[in-house]
Amino acid sequence: MKTTAQFKKMKQDGKPIAMLTAYDAPSARLAERADVDLILVGDSVGMVVLGYDSTIPVTVDDMALHTKAVKRGARDTFVVTDLPFFSYHGDFSETSGHVKRLLQEAGADAVKLEGGQEVTDTVEKLVQAGVPVMGHLGLTPQSVGVLGGYKVQGKEASEAEKLVTEAKALEAAGAFALVLECVPKQLGALVADRLDIPIIGIGAGAETDGQVLVYHDVIGYGSEHTPKFVKQYANISPHIEVGLENYVSDVKSRAFPEAANTFTMKAEQLDGLYG
Ligand code: KIV
Ligand code: NA
Repeated sequence: MKTTAQFKKMKQDGKPIAMLTAYDAPSARLAERADVDLILVGDSVGMVVLGYDSTIPVTVDDMALHTKAVKRGARDTFVVTDLPFFSYHGDFSETSGHVKRLLQEAGADAVKLEGGQEVTDTVEKLVQAGVPVMGHLGLTPQSVGVLGGYKVQGKEASEAEKLVTEAKALEAAGAFALVLECVPKQLGALVADRLDIPIIGIGAGAETDGQVLVYHDVIGYGSEHTPKFVKQYANISPHIEVGLENYVSDVKSRAFPEAANTFTMKAEQLDGLYG
């Protein structure tokens, strides 16, 4: 399993970091086999797995459940778990209760939280307590209501400057890496250049220190809307559809099960039964 120190070293050495989300044991197992550097149990689980329209309804319980499953599937990969909506804005004792659950009970190796200035204190306290924290700036989906939709962030100089300041504040607070979502590629490059910690982009151009995508988007599994920043590397939904249709039709026509899928008992035992 790679460490936060290794992620920083990868940045120094100019080696891109590949992060992918996963939400359950089989997806985590395949992510680990594909040699991803770290897995994110994103609160995107709410949209891609649980069927919600946003990440807002996702709870700490949801994150704990999915983190446990991911850890069982990928025991040798660094796992970052999202702190869900409004779970890190109250008293620090409340926040730390949530973080404890995700690290101690669920087995996450780090937590990720969204936001800039308003969360730097929390980041600092968590890091002081020994919790590796990943920040998340740019498009922060938990604030979709305030942002007014899923839009590119930091296009104006003043917005971009604020983002760079916040990124530096998160670094100073001790964050070991940042996700930077949906910003112009020039801003992605600038933030990666200005900070010593790795910047993992999603829709932030090719010059960040790494990339992250949502598992279901990468493999084309049931995702209805794919944003511009997604590249789909496989399209498994049609394969699943064909497989499921064939299963149903084989049951209806009694083509399944075949002899190979069937158990038998000896003829003399059968005589006894009918006798
Ligand atoms: O929840 C998520 O999947 C994320 C990534 C898109 C960075 O936060
Ligand atoms: Na997220």
